[in-house]
Amino acid sequence: FGTGAEELDTAPLRPSGSGAGTRTVTVVVPTFNEAGNVGELLRRLTEALPSRFPCEVVFVDDSTDDTADVIRRAARSCPFPVTVIHRDEPVGGLGGAVVEGMRVVDPMGRGWFVVMDADLQHPPDLVPDLVDAGIREGAELVVASRYRPGGSRAGLAGGYRVAVSRSATWLAKGTFPRLLRGISDPMSGFFAIRRETVAAALAEEGLRPLGYKILLELAVRCRPATVTELPFAFQDRFAGASKSTAREGFRFLGHLTALRTAAPVARMLLFGLIGLTGFLPNLLGLHLLTGTGLHYLPAEIVANQFGVVWNFLLIEVLLFRDRRHRHWADRVARFALLANADLLLRIPLIAVLVGALHFGVLPATALALLTTFVLRFAATEALVYL
Ligand code: GDD
Ligand code: MN
Repeated sequence: FGTGAEELDTAPLRPSGSGAGTRTVTVVVPTFNEAGNVGELLRRLTEALPSRFPCEVVFVDDSTDDTADVIRRAARSCPFPVTVIHRDEPVGGLGGAVVEGMRVVDPMGRGWFVVMDADLQHPPDLVPDLVDAGIREGAELVVASRYRPGGSRAGLAGGYRVAVSRSATWLAKGTFPRLLRGISDPMSGFFAIRRETVAAALAEEGLRPLGYKILLELAVRCRPATVTELPFAFQDRFAGASKSTAREGFRFLGHLTALRTAAPVARMLLFGLIGLTGFLPNLLGLHLLTGTGLHYLPAEIVANQFGVVWNFLLIEVLLFRDRRHRHWADRVARFALLANADLLLRIPLIAVLVGALHFGVLPATALALLTTFVLRFAATEALVYL
């Protein structure tokens, strides 16, 4: 590891689980049915990682084939420790696997995590370069980027996947312009990050990646102070096929929303926005129901429920996806109750504001709307999605 030697060679060559203060390079590799790739990956890592540095490789395997056995067999000829964690009940997909791999090493240890794919689309000989660059530039995060001059995405087969990848990059950077400023390729699955940078979030169980975008999760939740990038050429797959499906696209949108709404204020804003869109089904319902000749008062009441259902579905998917602990019928009932309590509370509140406190009708209504909205948001968090 060239210039990094002084930082790394103080530690003995052993797995990082064996003591506080060790400095290791822990390569974390998520695998899902990669039996045809892991042998070649370990062979190329053996060539790439100089044996005078403390390195280890941790596989987190969600496979339904014999990938784990193939790794264990190939590991016998490796000069570095290889750990295989097999998950029978995988959570969080690729990103969840990476977090699980980071959890097994000594939390007090120093050094680096390098995250890479098993299919050799990420060139193993770049691993030492990533760590070197981080040490040389004092960076906390080093991203291998396809979009830096000298990088390429040859292995991203087809114009469709290039377009999807590009839009996802823009969307992520648009959502987090400040946090992702120095990162040209936040969708990359190949990067090195200092263990100290992720330690706090790991300890607080604060990492909840959803699917493929583990770098996005770490960049947003761990906020590395300094970031640098190295260009790399995204290779063709060595064997097998990509595990990415259309479902990953939806998971990415869900992941981005979860990250953006991590703060209560952001969550309340989205809650309010969703509430506003509820006017649409409400008015449409009213139009249809009165069209059938129904009196407008019962129509109002029924149409209001259209808005309630619409809002409920949207907040379930966009806002509280990972907080749906109660039974769904229980959640619907509580949500509907709150939505109607909101109406019941607003009228007496307006009456008090106007009658006792001498507010004008308009400011009183505005204040009551705001108050009941904030109350309803707080109650939804506390009583429906605790
Ligand atoms: N443990 C685990 N669990 N591993 C998984 C899972 C999972 O559910 N899904 C995929 N993997 C592993 C694969 O076995 C492979 O080692 C790695 O994650 C990447 O999966 P691929 O299926 O090869 O992904 P890709 O090539 O389509 O996407 C890669 O490149 C994208 C850039 O275009 C990933 O690195 C993406 O994160 C990246 O955005
Ligand atoms: Mn791949």
